Amino acid sequence: MADDNEAGEPTRRSFVKAAGVLGVAATTGLTAGTGSAAADSLGFPGATDWTREQAEQIERTPETTAPLIDESVERLSEDQYIWDTWPLRNRDGSLAKVNGYQIIFSLTATNDVVPGARHNLASIRYFYSHNGHDWQQGGEVFDAEAALGHHQWAGSAMYDEETGDVNVFYTAVSAAGEYRQRLAVGTGASVETSGDGVEITGGFDHGIIAEADGERYQTLEQSRDQGIIYAFRDPWFFKHPETGEEYVLFEGNTPIENPSEYTDWNGNVGIAKATGEGLDEWELQEPLVEAITVNQQLERPHIVVSDGNYYLFTISHRFTFAPGLTGPDGLYGFVADSLDGDYEPLNEGGLVVSNPESAPFQTYSWLALPMGDNLAVTSFYNFRETDSLQDVGSLPPDEQKRLFGGTLAPSLQVRIDDTETEIVREMKDGYFSPAIGSQQRGNGKGWKH
Ligand code: FRU
Repeated sequence: MADDNEAGEPTRRSFVKAAGVLGVAATTGLTAGTGSAAADSLGFPGATDWTREQAEQIERTPETTAPLIDESVERLSEDQYIWDTWPLRNRDGSLAKVNGYQIIFSLTATNDVVPGARHNLASIRYFYSHNGHDWQQGGEVFDAEAALGHHQWAGSAMYDEETGDVNVFYTAVSAAGEYRQRLAVGTGASVETSGDGVEITGGFDHGIIAEADGERYQTLEQSRDQGIIYAFRDPWFFKHPETGEEYVLFEGNTPIENPSEYTDWNGNVGIAKATGEGLDEWELQEPLVEAITVNQQLERPHIVVSDGNYYLFTISHRFTFAPGLTGPDGLYGFVADSLDGDYEPLNEGGLVVSNPESAPFQTYSWLALPMGDNLAVTSFYNFRETDSLQDVGSLPPDEQKRLFGGTLAPSLQVRIDDTETEIVREMKDGYFSPAIGSQQRGNGKGWKH
């Protein structure tokens, strides 16, 4: 895994877009930037390409740079690392409040190991709060025996207000060394609240939503020659506000024919549609965005709908940009006037939130949530005082632990104005948007933290 990008000229190469529904594989000579044409001609909407030309516009500006975190870290949990985190949301995407409590879900792992070891130990825990920022630790969400995968990665959670069911979408991952990923869901648990707090009870029924099909989404086997970690993960539940159709967005890779030196940079934002009555039948769709020749990982994709615009966000790392391109670890975003696209990068290149240059890895795994007309962007404290994620791994274990925050970072208020965004201010650690009802409602006025 290389950390820094080497300079290099983009090469044009062909790739396969396969028409899975038609059972026809089409080999095209498309280049990045024109990727949707073949898919369109096969009868389903094609992905928008995040092009190299657009990515060349990525720039850290005052509007996209978060302030340096200078406080000492106060951990949410004494014994657990906490990283990727998401709130319990209602079906319509608004934050859920159950008998006065908001609930968040986090990837967690015991903090007696080096931070890099946490990925192979990840389990999902929940936390609850009356005010959306002072979180009490609950327990593990799943019974370890029943949850799918050796361990579980991110992640979204939907509260069905009619039935009171809690449904948690997650990535079922096989053990380190393989890291095979499948999209999964646990359905049908309940929330019990009392003066003492919150319990998630009743158990979940677990099922697989989708596996990589090798046509639109690269399989682990197809990715074997590639250097960076392969992806088919991070399901994010999304109900279409206009059609009522239900989807999960996820992170994938596009299969590449004719491997070249750019084969590794094939990240996409995938989408699957619920086709049955409940949450157990899903069909893979054509990806929404592809970053072929641009970036290998478009992690934790999610959407905020505002003023009829579809804002699509994803997180990515500096080291996953293709040679000749550079972008910081950051939150990247796109906007379209429909779910299908075409998606235009925000702020020209796509960068919405980065860390300051002096602490490029201080936070990661940003999640943008609707907050009136603005966004509340949450993240976790990652590594301070370091210039290279790769170098951290070779430091003595105690030093690695000292550098790793492993808890929720200050949230950011971000203003969106059509295709432009601006970080307005820093908020409290782990500040999630207040639960105000539908994401279409509310104007954020009168809100305080
Ligand atoms: C982002 C991420 C997710 C994944 C998890 C694994 O921080 O890479 O894509 O689900 O972390 O720990």
